Amino acid sequence: MIMDGNGRWAQARGWPRLAGHRAGAETVRRMVEAAPGLGIGTLTLYAFSSDNWKRPQDEIAGLFRLFARYLKQEAAKLAEQGVRFEMIGRRDRLPGPLVSLVEETESFTQAGTRLHLRVAVDYSSRDAILRAVEAGACDRESMQAHLGPDVDLLIRTSGEQRLSDFLLWECAYAEFSFLDVAWPELTETEVREALEDFRSRDRRYGGVKLSRVQALR
Ligand code: IPE
Ligand code: IPE
Ligand code: MG
Repeated sequence: MIMDGNGRWAQARGWPRLAGHRAGAETVRRMVEAAPGLGIGTLTLYAFSSDNWKRPQDEIAGLFRLFARYLKQEAAKLAEQGVRFEMIGRRDRLPGPLVSLVEETESFTQAGTRLHLRVAVDYSSRDAILRAVEAGACDRESMQAHLGPDVDLLIRTSGEQRLSDFLLWECAYAEFSFLDVAWPELTETEVREALEDFRSRDRRYGGVKLSRVQALR
C-alpha cells in the first residue's frame, strides 16, 4: 500500500502536515489489525521514500519520531498477533536509535506467521534493484530472493495514480487500486471492497482465458 495524502488531509483542515502523519499512524494500526482477517498474508507499506529526504527537516524528523513511537508501542502487540515485522530500504542514513529499534522489533517478531508486515523506509525500488544486481542477482529467481514476493494488489490512497519508485520489479503483473480517500481516513471496509474487486478481475499474465480459447475452437 502506498500511504498517501496525510499532508493534504491535515492542511485541508488547517492543521500542520505532521498532524496528518499522526492520524496516518492510526490508520497503519487499523490496517495491520485488519489484514489477516481480510486474507492478506504480506502487507508492504510505503512509509518514507528515498525522495522524501527532499522534505523540510522538521517533517522528516517528525516522521521518524512517529515511526519510533509506533514500534515502541506496537512491538508486543505485533508479536502477540503473529505479525512478523520487517523494514525494507536503506538503513545507513537513518538515525542510529531508530535502526536499533527496527532491528529489535524484527528479532522480537520473527516467529510471526499470520502476517508479514514490511515497512518501506528510505526506500527506492530502483536502488533496491541496483543493489540486488550488485549482489549478484542475475536471473528472476535470485532477483525475487533479494527483493521479495510479487505484488498481487497495489493500493494507493489519495487520488494519485503513480508508483513513485515503489516495488517496480515486484509489480510486473500487479493489479492496481487507486482510491480517492486520504490515508488517514482509509477504513477496513474500503480495503475489503478493493479486495473484492481485485478477486473478480481476470489476471491473464499475457495468456488468454481458457473458456475463450475453447469458445474459439
Ligand atoms: C504520505 O502522505 C506519507 C509520506 C509520504 C511520508 P504525504 O505526506 O505524501 O501527503 P501528501 O501527499 O502531501 O498529502
Ligand atoms: C510516495 O508518496 C512515498 C510514500 C507514500 C512514502 P509521495 O507523496 O512522496 O509521492 P509523490 O511525490 O506524490 O510522487
Ligand atoms: Mg504524497
